[in-house]
Amino acid sequence: MDRTFVAIKPDAVQRGFIGQIIERFERKGFKIVGLKMLKPTRELAEKHYEEHIGRDYFERLVAFMISGPVIAMVVEGKNAVSVVRRMVGSTKPHEAEVGTIRFDFAQVKEMNIIHGSDSIENAKREIDVFFREDELVDWHHDLELWLYEK
Ligand code: CDP
Ligand code: MG
Repeated sequence: MDRTFVAIKPDAVQRGFIGQIIERFERKGFKIVGLKMLKPTRELAEKHYEEHIGRDYFERLVAFMISGPVIAMVVEGKNAVSVVRRMVGSTKPHEAEVGTIRFDFAQVKEMNIIHGSDSIENAKREIDVFFREDELVDWHHDLELWLYEK
C-alpha cells in the first residue's frame, strides 16, 4: 500500500467542494489516515512548494495557498500516489481528462482546486511537512475485504 498527500486548496474550500472531493477518494476505496483543516503559514507553503522556488509564479502560488484554509489529507491504498494523481488530473484544468477533479471543478492552473503528490518520495516529504507522526491514524479499513484480493 502507498500513502500520498492531498491538499484541497483554498479555492475549493471557498467554493464548497470539500465534501465532493473527499467523497471521490472514499468512493474509490482509499483509506484516509490523516485529515485536518489549517490555514498554512508562509513557511509551510514555501516548504511544501520548495521545488518551485525561483519560478515566476512562486510568489503568487504561495500567496494563494496561504489566502485561506486548506484541507490536508493523507490517503492510503493500492498505488495511491499514481492513482490519486490521475484522479486529480493535469495541472492545467482545460487539458485535464474529462472526469478528473481538475477538469470537473476548475478552469485555470492558478486555481486548480487540489494538490496530489507526484511521486512516492515527494509524498513522504509532503506528508512530513503537513503532519506530525501522531496525527496519522492507524486503523483497520473493513472495506478492504471487498476491495483487495487476499
Ligand atoms: O500541481 P501540479 O503538480 O500538477 O503542478 P506543478 O507544475 O507541480 O505546479 C504546482 C502548482 O503551481 C500548480 O498546481 C499550480 O497551481 C501552480 N502553478 C501556477 O500557478 N503557474 C504555473 N505556471 C505553474 C504552476
Ligand atoms: Mg507538482
